[in-house]
Amino acid sequence: MPIGESYYEPGQQHKAFDPMILRPEPPILSRRKVLAGGVALMAPLPSRAAPPPEKTNTARNGKQRMAFDRERFVEDCIAAHHEADGVSAVREVLTRAIRDHRAVLSGLGEPKQAGLDVRLASPTLTIFAAHWTPQMNLLPHDHMMWALIGIYTGREDNIFWRRREDTIEAFGANCLFEGDVAELPANAIHSVTNPLLRFAGGIHIYGGDFFETARHQWDPETLNEELSDGETIRALFARENERRKLGEQN
Ligand SMILES: [Fe+2]
Repeated sequence: MPIGESYYEPGQQHKAFDPMILRPEPPILSRRKVLAGGVALMAPLPSRAAPPPEKTNTARNGKQRMAFDRERFVEDCIAAHHEADGVSAVREVLTRAIRDHRAVLSGLGEPKQAGLDVRLASPTLTIFAAHWTPQMNLLPHDHMMWALIGIYTGREDNIFWRRREDTIEAFGANCLFEGDVAELPANAIHSVTNPLLRFAGGIHIYGGDFFETARHQWDPETLNEELSDGETIRALFARENERRKLGEQN
């Protein structure tokens, strides 16, 4: 099935799906273990017209590298979202940026605490950099809108869940490394782990107002369903930072 096809119609919140990882380079399967079914590795996307010249900096190997311009990136995503296939167009903007994840890290800065560096919050599009503390876990939750995740530092492991009767069950997993882009349809439910002993950072893009949309989360032990919104997520991050501070004091 072509990327994105039939996944984004409203009202199909419980439809089964295949989470997808998009990699600009051929995937190194020995590093990226697929733990269970439901993951499709995609070939490189066809590139659009070359963007106009941007600022460059020098990589360690001496080659000139495009600098990551945060404001320009947001503008490009907004413009792409207005295209006929807005999701694919935004995904391509993200994939092109994340291809040089070191430049993105340089542009956004090293994550230093759990949190969301919000770059855009609008009724139709939300963009933020999510920072996970070392070995941080995020409980199962949904978004109620399509999502794109591009990892620019560290690693993010996802477990995918689906609704079953009055609870949820896990059915798949993937590991996102630096340079990977994942696409989650509107009916996705996932929990997230940073398995590394260092911070992870990813650009997250959502096809709606992430902070003002009533969403759902599930207790990690009982899998009881609860309501979630921006405040809930912010509180989760605050608790994580507190936990980390306490850990450093002991
Ligand atoms: Fe999420």
